[in-house]
Amino acid sequence: MIKQLVLLLIACAPIQLVHAQMSRIDKRVDSVLKLMTLEEKVGQMNQYNGDWAATGPITQDGDKQNQIRKGMVGSMLNVTGVDHTRTLQQVAMQSRLKIPLLFGQDVIHGYRTTFPIPLAEAASWDITAIELSARIAAIEASAAGIHWTFAPMVDISRDPRWGRVMEGAGEDPYLGSIIAKARVNGFQGKGFGHTDAVMACVKHFAAYGAAVGGRDYNSVDMSMRTLYELYLPPFKAALDAGAATFMNSFNDLNGIPATGNTFLQRDLLKNKWKFTGFIVSDWGSVGEMINHGYATDNAHAAVLAANAGSDMDMESRSYIQHLARMVKGGKVKMSVIDDAVRRILKKKFEMGLFDDPFKFCNEAREKEQWNNPAHLLAARDMAKKSIVLLKNESPLGKGAGVSLLPINKQTKTIAVIGPFAKGVKDNLGFWSYDWADDTARIKTLWTGIQNKLSSGSKMIYAKGCGIADTSRAGFQEAIDAANNADIVIVSVGEARNMSGEAKSRSSIQLPGVQEELIKALMATGKPVVVLISAGRPLIFNWTADHVPAILYTWWLGTEAGNAIADVLFGDYNPSGKLPMSFPRTEGQIPIFYNYYNTGRPAKNENDQNYVSAYIDLPNSPKFPFGYGLSYTSFEYGQLQFNKTSLKGKEPLKVSVTVTNSGTYAGEEVVQLYSRDMVGSVVRPVKELKGFQKIFLQAGESKTISFVITTNDLRFYNNELKFDWEAGEFEIMIGGNSKDVKSAKVNWVK
Ligand code: BGC
Repeated sequence: MIKQLVLLLIACAPIQLVHAQMSRIDKRVDSVLKLMTLEEKVGQMNQYNGDWAATGPITQDGDKQNQIRKGMVGSMLNVTGVDHTRTLQQVAMQSRLKIPLLFGQDVIHGYRTTFPIPLAEAASWDITAIELSARIAAIEASAAGIHWTFAPMVDISRDPRWGRVMEGAGEDPYLGSIIAKARVNGFQGKGFGHTDAVMACVKHFAAYGAAVGGRDYNSVDMSMRTLYELYLPPFKAALDAGAATFMNSFNDLNGIPATGNTFLQRDLLKNKWKFTGFIVSDWGSVGEMINHGYATDNAHAAVLAANAGSDMDMESRSYIQHLARMVKGGKVKMSVIDDAVRRILKKKFEMGLFDDPFKFCNEAREKEQWNNPAHLLAARDMAKKSIVLLKNESPLGKGAGVSLLPINKQTKTIAVIGPFAKGVKDNLGFWSYDWADDTARIKTLWTGIQNKLSSGSKMIYAKGCGIADTSRAGFQEAIDAANNADIVIVSVGEARNMSGEAKSRSSIQLPGVQEELIKALMATGKPVVVLISAGRPLIFNWTADHVPAILYTWWLGTEAGNAIADVLFGDYNPSGKLPMSFPRTEGQIPIFYNYYNTGRPAKNENDQNYVSAYIDLPNSPKFPFGYGLSYTSFEYGQLQFNKTSLKGKEPLKVSVTVTNSGTYAGEEVVQLYSRDMVGSVVRPVKELKGFQKIFLQAGESKTISFVITTNDLRFYNNELKFDWEAGEFEIMIGGNSKDVKSAKVNWVK
C-alpha cells in the first residue's frame, strides 16, 4: 500500500510541478494586470504588421514605434531576424510597463529551409516526418527571433478550386487531426521556455475551407452536424495537443462572421473545450465585419469581436481606436478585456519573455541555424516522401512491357523539358520566403537529375513554354530535344502564386499550353514521364489517359530537384498517397470519398437510369483519396477478425496480410475504413479510421492489425450527441479508398 502511494506520488510529481508553475504564472499575470490602465490593456490586444513583408492589405502608419513606446501594441507580425526583433523589443522596453512584444509570422512550411507545402506533406502519411518538418521550421524561425507561427492551418476542404488547400492536410478529418497534432507538437517542441519552441496558432476557426464555390473569403453555410463531424475535429486535436493560440477566420458561418461569432469562440472553444490560450483575429477580419454587413463601423466591430471572444485584433485597428471608449460606454465589460489580456500575458510569461524579452535574440544561434545541412537532408527526405506516383506503365501500353519508371542511371540521353525543368522559385510554392541566395540554394529539377547521372549520360534542355503561356513558339525546340533523347521528362504545373491565399481558380486544368506541349512530345513516340508541380489537385485528363508515367510533385521546397531525382532514378521508391480526391472536371466539385449513398445510388460507373449520376461522366474521381502507386506492387489478403459479433466495449481486432508482390522493396500506407450500415442519421459510405505506413522487402509479407472500439464508431446524431449506435458495420482495408477488401461485423450494445 505504502509502496503504491509512493509510486503514485512520484507519478504525480511532474503534474504538481506544472500546476505550481502555472499558478505562479497566473499570479504574475495578475500582478501585471493590476498595474495596467485600460488603454494599456487594449494595447496588448492590438497587433500590427511590421514593415518587412505584407500578407494582407496594408495601412500606412509611420507611427508604429511611437505606439509601441506608449504601450499600445501587444504583438507584431512580419518582423523577422534577430536584428529587427531586437530593435522593436528595445522600443517596447521603453514603455511604462515594459511588457514584451510577441513576434508572429506565417511559418507554414519552413522558414530558412522550405519544406514541401503542407498538402504535399500530408500525402506522405508519414507523421514522424511531418512533425520533424514543423520542428525544424520552429528551430529556424525561433533562431530568427520569432515567437509564434500562424500554423498549423487545419481547414478541411473538399474543393480544389480553393487556393488555400495547399496549406492544409486535405479532405479527411481523421488524417487532418493526426497531422494537426503532429504539427503542433513539432512547433511547440519540448514546450515553452525552450528557446527553440514557437507557439502554434491553429487556424482558421472555423469552416473556412468550405467557402461557397471554392472562392476565397466566401460565405460558409453548413449544418451543425457537418461542422462537428468534418470541420472541427482537427481543431480539437490541435487543442488537445496543447496549441497555444487560435486564429479565427474571414468567412461567416451560417450568417455570423467567425470573428464576431460567440458560439465558435466563446461557447465552444473557450467554454466547452476549455481553451486557455488566446484567439487572434485574421488580418483585418474585425473591421471586415462592416463589409459583411454585420457591424455598422469599426467601433461596433470592436464591440462585436471582443464580446464574441477575439482577444487580439490583427491589423484592423478597431480595438486600438475604439475599444477603450466602448468599455467606458458600457458596451464591453471590463471582465472581457481582463480575460483577453490575461490570456495574452500568460503566453508571454510562458514563453519566458517577461524574464528575458531578448531571449530569442541570439545572433550566434541565428547564424548557426541559417545554413544547417541537417535541415536540408530532412527537407529532402520529406520531399521524396510527399511525391505521389499516379501512373507507371510501359510506353508500349498497359501490361505490354516493363514500366517506364524508375529510369536507368546509365541512360544515354535525357531530355528535360518544361517550365519547371530549370525553374527555381516555383519549387517553393506559396507561403515561402524569398532569400537573397535562393538561386544557389534551391535544387532545381535540372540539378537534381544532373547529380544522378554518370559522365556518359547527356541532358538536353528545352523550356517548351512558360507556365501560363499561350504561345507554342518553343514547341519545336522541345520536340527536337525529345527526338534526340532516349527518354523525355516533362515538368509542368502551377506557378507559385497560382494556389494559396486569394488564389482560387475556377478552372483547375494545367495552365496555358502545357498540356499541348505534352501532346506534342508524346507524338514523337519517345517514352515520356510527366511531373506535375502544383498547390492543389489539378485536372489533366489527356495526360492521365495517354502518358505512361506521371509523378505528382506538388511544390516540394528547397530540395525539390534532389527529391524528384531520387524518385525518378529509383533511389527512393515512391510511397505518397493523395490526401484529396482528384476530380475529372470542375463540374464534379465538391468531390470527396466520404459521401452519403443517397436513395438512388448508381450501381456502377455507367448507370444513369434514374440514379444519382451525371449523364456526361462517371461519379468517381480521376484519382481517389488515398491513392498512390509504388515501383512495386502490394497484394492484400482477406480480412481476419477476432470476432464478427461484438458486444459493447469489446474491441474488434482486424488483421490483413499484405504482401510485396513486386521486385522492389517499398512502403505502403495500409488504410482502414468503416461504414455504419444503418444509422439514426445517414452515414458516409466510408470513413478513414486508421492507417499504418509499412515497409516490405520484395516478396515479404506482413500481417497488419488494427483495433477498433466503439469510440471509433461514434458520430454526431441529430441532437448533436456524440455516440455510437448498434448494428452492422462494414470494415474495409486497402491501399486507397477505392480498392479495398471488406467484410461485415455486427455490434450490439
Ligand atoms: C491569412 C492568415 C495569415 C495572416 C497573417 C491572413 O491573410 O488568412 O492565414 O496568418 O494573413 O499573415
